[in-house]
Amino acid sequence: MKLTVLTLFPEILSAYCSASIMKRAAEKGLISCNLVNIRDYAYDRHHKCDDEVFGGGAGMLMKPEPLDRALEAAGSPGVRTVYVTPSGRLFNQAMAEDFAREPELVILCGRYEGVDQRIIDSRVTDVVSIGDYVLSSGEVAAMVVIDAVYRLIPGVISQESLSEESFAGGLLEYPQYTRPAKYGNMHVPEVLLSGNHAAIARWRLRASLIKTLAYRPELLQTIDLSGDVGRLLREVIDEGGTNEPHTADPGRTDKN
Ligand code: ADE
Repeated sequence: MKLTVLTLFPEILSAYCSASIMKRAAEKGLISCNLVNIRDYAYDRHHKCDDEVFGGGAGMLMKPEPLDRALEAAGSPGVRTVYVTPSGRLFNQAMAEDFAREPELVILCGRYEGVDQRIIDSRVTDVVSIGDYVLSSGEVAAMVVIDAVYRLIPGVISQESLSEESFAGGLLEYPQYTRPAKYGNMHVPEVLLSGNHAAIARWRLRASLIKTLAYRPELLQTIDLSGDVGRLLREVIDEGGTNEPHTADPGRTDKN
């Protein structure tokens, strides 16, 4: 994937784009991360990129001319162009999967009060918010989108990790444990040490359901509840569910 990020502060993203998994993905040729400073496309003496809002109001808006030129230079015609803003459509895993299928992606980071609407109308294909809160910079939101997307590109991380994580089957991921099996007075749930794969799978599904019911019950409306999953969910609900999933089946402590 050819990724291009348009920003007034490329330095915020540069460390992220050249470290860890992203670095390895770039070395393998799976992704290229191109940071474009919008200010390089402001041709007046002061490289001005913002101006007052017509109609009045607090704050400044990003001017159309530098953005238009930067976007023109950034991607091929018709390239998927994402503008990150708190007033966008809520970002989720399905959107990340959709973006990950693109050979090329442009991300525009807003600053100040945002960007002139004509740029959105003429150049942007997806207006995306990462959550119902306001950050001081689009750069942080862009990093969230990039991170969720590039790890889905085949070859970046293992398929097995992807298929087991939260949202993969519409549920939150089950609790996980590593050695030691007894830590202080807390024990790993017995079943996970049993080697019985069917029992482990059932425990994990049940734990995922308990967790999803407690933290994100709305997700349960989007999954198929006709088979085993539905049966297990009804069992969990009949048993009273729990608001504290981490205490639902915590394994054993020496007190219980
Ligand atoms: N910029 C500032 N806040 C944001 C948010 N919540 N989502 C996307 N971009 C943003």
